[in-house]
Amino acid sequence: MKIMMLLNIALLVTLINFGKCKSHSFVVNYDDNSFSKDGQPFRYISGSIHYARVPRGYWDDRLMKMYATGLNAIQVYVPWNFHERSPGRYTFEDNADLVAFLRKANDTGLLVILRPGPYICAEWDMGGLPSWLLKDGVIKLRTMDEDYIQAVDRWMGVLLPKIKPLLYSNGGPIISIQVENEYGSYYACDHDYIRHLKNTFEEALGADAVVLFTTDGANEKNFKCGTLQGLYATVDFGTVGDISSAFKLQRKFQPQGPLVNSEFYTGWLDHWGQNHSTVTKEKVTDFLDKILAMGASVNMYMFEGGTNFGFWNGANTVYSPQPTSYDYDAPLTEAGDPTDKLMAIRNIIKKYAKVPLIPVPPATQKLAYGQSTMTKVGSLYDVLDKLTPYGPIKSNYPITMEAMQQSFGFIMYRTTIAINVTKATLLDIPGIRDRGYIIINQVPVGIVVRNKPTGLNITASKGDILDIVVENQGRINFGETIADMKGIVGNITLGDTILEGFQIYSLQLDEFVPKISQKFELTWPSPQTQLNVPTLYSGTMPALPPDITEPRDTFLKVSGWTKGQAYINGFNLGRYWPVEGPQVTLYVPATILKRTENFIVLFELESAPCSTEGSCTIEFIDQPILNGTVARGHKIL
Ligand SMILES: *[C@@H]1O[C@H](CO)[C@@H](O)[C@H](O)[C@H]1NC(C)=O
Ligand SMILES: *[C@@H]1O[C@H](CO)[C@@H](O)[C@H](O)[C@H]1NC(C)=O
Ligand SMILES: *[C@@H]1O[C@H](CO)[C@@H](O)[C@H](O)[C@H]1NC(C)=O
Ligand SMILES: *[C@@H]1O[C@H](CO)[C@@H](O)[C@H](O)[C@H]1NC(C)=O
Ligand SMILES: *[C@@H]1O[C@H](CO)[C@@H](O)[C@H](O)[C@H]1NC(C)=O
Ligand SMILES: *[C@@H]1O[C@H](CO)[C@@H](O)[C@H](O)[C@H]1NC(C)=O
Repeated sequence: MKIMMLLNIALLVTLINFGKCKSHSFVVNYDDNSFSKDGQPFRYISGSIHYARVPRGYWDDRLMKMYATGLNAIQVYVPWNFHERSPGRYTFEDNADLVAFLRKANDTGLLVILRPGPYICAEWDMGGLPSWLLKDGVIKLRTMDEDYIQAVDRWMGVLLPKIKPLLYSNGGPIISIQVENEYGSYYACDHDYIRHLKNTFEEALGADAVVLFTTDGANEKNFKCGTLQGLYATVDFGTVGDISSAFKLQRKFQPQGPLVNSEFYTGWLDHWGQNHSTVTKEKVTDFLDKILAMGASVNMYMFEGGTNFGFWNGANTVYSPQPTSYDYDAPLTEAGDPTDKLMAIRNIIKKYAKVPLIPVPPATQKLAYGQSTMTKVGSLYDVLDKLTPYGPIKSNYPITMEAMQQSFGFIMYRTTIAINVTKATLLDIPGIRDRGYIIINQVPVGIVVRNKPTGLNITASKGDILDIVVENQGRINFGETIADMKGIVGNITLGDTILEGFQIYSLQLDEFVPKISQKFELTWPSPQTQLNVPTLYSGTMPALPPDITEPRDTFLKVSGWTKGQAYINGFNLGRYWPVEGPQVTLYVPATILKRTENFIVLFELESAPCSTEGSCTIEFIDQPILNGTVARGHKIL
């Protein structure tokens, strides 16, 4: 009896497994120039969404909207530095719960194209590589460099076992995995490195368990360095250029198999100080229509851009950091709202595929909470001991933020002036990364910036305390210079003298802000319309109107303020810099709000609209402003 049952179970398991093999396969069909899913020809119409840029409480909402548009897949980057914040310490909770996100995609009915890097670009700090790789200064990123590979292998040893059960062939949503990211455009062109990653993925996941592919920009040199035998070669391009010549290039390196555009750009990224980028829905749908008419698979980058909360934005060269919003002019806005572009895309998809009968869910409700009055908590100097609980590190010459084992935010270099400087003399900091506030005896005297001027003429007396408060504005995420160390890189000169005898303070803003409460509140500030020392302000959001019971999304408008970091309920909303533009408001998701007593903190670096008569206020409005006037009004790139 028992034996019979066991036999039956064994038979059942065999049948299920057999069924699984047949019904759960996703492969390239080289004869048919298509993908084959469960034995049937298949093409994906996919959209990019980054779980780290969308509050976890909104994952379902965004995925459902993507599904309702008619997408059958999503494309997802895994940002390594979001998960391994310090060497060997891993985070997979809250917004970093990758497995939960992938399960939600699966439950929504979406397949997944996973891009686990290790490098991802993505306009994300250092292209997703952890900054602690730069601790010792010398490392050749994205090559077979021993230290780099050791760190990559350790990370993949943690990540890939989590991925494996979620492969399509194992009953999960992941149909394909990208190896590295647009590797062909990187100077190193190290084929052994790509081969190493291929082997790593195959060993961890199974040799034919999932389609492994590469993506490169439509240029022959890129394909030469980025592709590798055994990895399916795909191309990426937007609404400029020529579709057929881009696909011809893919064909040259991938003579058989489906045409795939892995990043079809629905919009474009922004940089501080440069005009807001947009791409019209007409252009997007015109190109999409043509791509789909060719029978190609496509992924729209981005479909939901989201937000660079905290300090996560990257930068391009000539050094131009990206703003907090990653709206991208995508079909779903930063706040997850369907746009006309989305509806137009849906109409194109309908020509080629069945779209779900359900309507696209509507925009979430927004609320103009109104104005909040801010009061001063204290200047950097009032709270320095709390911001730097471990005190300063002594070093004769400046050392980098990474050498201080700090990843993000602000760092202060202090030294004592050793001689009288009576004539204006150049204080030069060519290694400023990225923006430095020069303060003598707690009085601000000027700003130095990475893109020049890196120097400032000063006078000082022997014994004066020189402080340089440096903001890391985001690490370069693309190109040869991604090993972008922060703080001060190299020596500081005053005239002909190299300054020595530093005390270096890592400012632990993210750790300190949640501890701020009214009890730190000091007296009303003196007029602060001039450049001031960095100062913390706090306030409370206006209450919900009586007829509204739950918190709603809103947008923080910081007009009149200059530059800094904004927090609500201890959550780091990101950088604000309305005088630089184009971004004027910060997205405040309802997921971080409470019904009452929402506590705001601003770390204002330059000047606040606060004086005895002035209005020390901020405002919460019900729509974003991402296209404000820009300071420079020109494109650097
Ligand atoms: C994915 O969804 C399918 C149903 O569409 C379900 O059978 C399967 O168990 C799910 N896989 C995971 C890993 O959740
Ligand atoms: C430096 O200047 C201070 C006044 O600012 C003066 O008292 C002192 O004598 C000067 N020292 C030298 C070495 O010139
Ligand atoms: C510093 O002063 C010198 C001499 O007056 C001047 O040539 C130089 O441009 C000044 N540098 C800066 C950065 O202001
Ligand atoms: C800083 O200056 C000192 C003294 O000249 C020198 O030994 C050191 O190498 C310099 N550091 C850098 C990074 O150039
Ligand atoms: C900014 O965007 C809004 C909303 O899309 C639009 O109404 C407005 O005209 C734009 N302003 C500028 C200066 O482009
Ligand atoms: C930026 O926008 C301004 C105002 O709309 C316009 O005058 C300027 O030409 C734009 N610059 C570029 C590079 O597009």
